[in-house]
Amino acid sequence: MITVSSGNALLEESGDALVVPVFSDLAWGPGASDIAEQLGDWLEDELAAQKFSGKAGKAATVPGIGTSFGRIVFVGLGDEVDAESLRQAAGLAAGITSRSARVATSLHAVDIDGAASAVTLGFLLGAYSFTDRKSEPEAPLTEELVLVGGADSAEMSRGKILAGAVAFARTMVNEPANHKKPSVLADHFAAVTEPFGVQVTVFDEAAIAQERFGGLAAVAQGATNPPRMVVMKYSPAGAKRTVAFVGKGIVFDSGGLSIKPAAGMETMKTDMSGAAAVAGAVSAIAQLGLAVNVIGITPITENMTGGAAQRPGDVFTARNGATVEVLNTDAEGRLVLADGLALAVESSPDVVIDVATLTGACMVALGKDIAGVWASDEEVAATVTAAANAAGEKFWHMPLEADYRSLLDSDIADIKNTAGRWGGAITAALFLQHFVGDQPWAHLDIAGPARAEKAKHYVKKGGTGFGVRTMVAIAEAYTER
Ligand code: BES
Ligand code: MN
Ligand code: ZN
Repeated sequence: MITVSSGNALLEESGDALVVPVFSDLAWGPGASDIAEQLGDWLEDELAAQKFSGKAGKAATVPGIGTSFGRIVFVGLGDEVDAESLRQAAGLAAGITSRSARVATSLHAVDIDGAASAVTLGFLLGAYSFTDRKSEPEAPLTEELVLVGGADSAEMSRGKILAGAVAFARTMVNEPANHKKPSVLADHFAAVTEPFGVQVTVFDEAAIAQERFGGLAAVAQGATNPPRMVVMKYSPAGAKRTVAFVGKGIVFDSGGLSIKPAAGMETMKTDMSGAAAVAGAVSAIAQLGLAVNVIGITPITENMTGGAAQRPGDVFTARNGATVEVLNTDAEGRLVLADGLALAVESSPDVVIDVATLTGACMVALGKDIAGVWASDEEVAATVTAAANAAGEKFWHMPLEADYRSLLDSDIADIKNTAGRWGGAITAALFLQHFVGDQPWAHLDIAGPARAEKAKHYVKKGGTGFGVRTMVAIAEAYTER
């Protein structure tokens, strides 16, 4: 674990690496001119030779000759900085300095709100790696990040809390499915939330039947490892409003009897990203001590093909009493979310937000980097979009087209779980709406951004922990002010 601390003035600090910001056309950012002076005349030629001009996303490393740092890393910030470009610059720097034990930086001295938090978050996430399943993991080399010239401790702490929550979600996603059977994942969720005063209830298979979580039970039928429903409640004294988060927790999605093709099926361990993000967000919200009640609900199961698996054409009864005809067992996320959403609305929260790797169709529509948002009304949509922008995660508001609802009409039950090829992400959202009724609600389809094919700034290959930061920002929007 990297420690983050507030350091002395730049010229009184030392370390294995120093990271300084540079704007377009080599305009020195905070700290860069001091260090450029110490380095000497050769610097400009060297940066020119490296074709480095301060563009965002670029960096140049030079030896720290004549300074008290082993190496100097100049990171580009481009023309205009915001919190997200600062996070990205810090993430890039973390990758470049991964072999340095003590890293100092003046990036946080850039003049924007929340700079120290953004630098802490970006650096810690850029330094993330998943090594739990290596027999001889290489110890991470970076031990310390020092914010030179001092930094606000509340800001650093916020960055650390958020990074820890995102890293938790990443690690849960990166775990192979055989290492995160539902009971194990439920234990991890309790471990990351309970120490911060969150009250956790775990429903086992008997309790799931007792509580009439029919969608979760139907999907779980085909699996040997039994399901769990986890409810995490954060209820700080004096909080008035309540936000409920519901996360899809499919620890492996084989498709069930409507089985998926073999190619790429291994990535379906990612299908519990929504649940992991909810647990991470609840943990962060509790650590930040936000003045809002939060309920996190995560139905967890495998979607497998065992002899007791549900068959295409089966009908089950969900928690809210609705009957559902299952025409495609691979549209399983919406079945477990149906119960989670029905449970969430029972306590009439001010808003219900579900988060799920729900449809390939959403990826077709928006690509790998952008999540879809569907909302019950414009106000909720605006709240989610503003929260996502502040958090630095990309979302696009999609239509909850009421005219498509009839595509989900079943011949024999109240509703069916698939509606044909066109607008598949929209009909999935309309299915979920059936279990929410008319309460304020938003659905976040994170099928694309939950997993990254390659590393980029603070994103690492594999699970991304996408959604954690937006949920924390949504909870912040519902605090009393
Ligand atoms: N977990 C998948 C969606 C998914 C696909 C997420 C690819 C990330 C990457 C979901 O359970 C699923 O299989 N959805 C089907 C729905 C269809 C059968 C109506 C899909 O999108 O193909
Ligand atoms: Mn599926
Ligand atoms: Zn799925």
